[in-house]
Amino acid sequence: MPDKPFSEYAERNGGPILEILRTEFAASGRVLEIGSGTGQHAVRFARALPHLQWQTSDCRENLNGIVSWVNSAKLRNLLPPFALDVMTDADPAGPWDAVFSANTAHIMGVAAVEKMFAIVGRLLVDGGVFCLYGPFRQGGKFNTESNATFHKALRSRDPEMGIRHLESLDELGAAKNLARARLYAMPANNHLAVWIKEGT
Ligand SMILES: C[S@@+](CC[C@H](N)C(=O)[O-])C[C@H]1O[C@@H](n2cnc3c(N)ncnc32)[C@H](O)[C@@H]1O
Repeated sequence: MPDKPFSEYAERNGGPILEILRTEFAASGRVLEIGSGTGQHAVRFARALPHLQWQTSDCRENLNGIVSWVNSAKLRNLLPPFALDVMTDADPAGPWDAVFSANTAHIMGVAAVEKMFAIVGRLLVDGGVFCLYGPFRQGGKFNTESNATFHKALRSRDPEMGIRHLESLDELGAAKNLARARLYAMPANNHLAVWIKEGT
């Protein structure tokens, strides 16, 4: 079997994210992860939070790598990935108590971010929790010069990519009955934003 894909970033930010999820997902059962990447986060969080049933997903090109992490972890509460490209795939069968996604909103185009919020809004149970980790802009500003530089680098790689305005994400959420409840400052100039699905 080929080596498992490895992300130094996921290794580094996984610990601080886990400490937030302990609280935010304390009352959750079924968790859907969008854009699982290598699968490292899923293994770490499912192992540390055995009350959760953690469902991995991503675009097709990442599925084999995630499968290799899931298989080697041998955790009963960690499920192999299904394909979920938020632009093209049908909603996965829900409902879900929680959705987690890390470092996806600045990689997806704006239309995909909008679709992600729509999917989360449709699939979460009332009172369900959406945790989104990554860099954000607030009040029209980057929080550091390094995030401004990162944004420029993303834009030159693909004009669709870029660090999102938190206020725009709140608007997308509000349109889908997702109200932002909390915002945690995280290491390396990142944040973890939490939206709660309100009953209709
Ligand atoms: C920078 S990686 C982050 C991976 C992982 N969550 C992490 O934090 O290490 C961005 C992820 O977003 C996923 N992604 C990009 N566009 C997507 C889409 N349209 N639907 C679902 N996932 C998408 C990529 O496949 C990739 O796994």
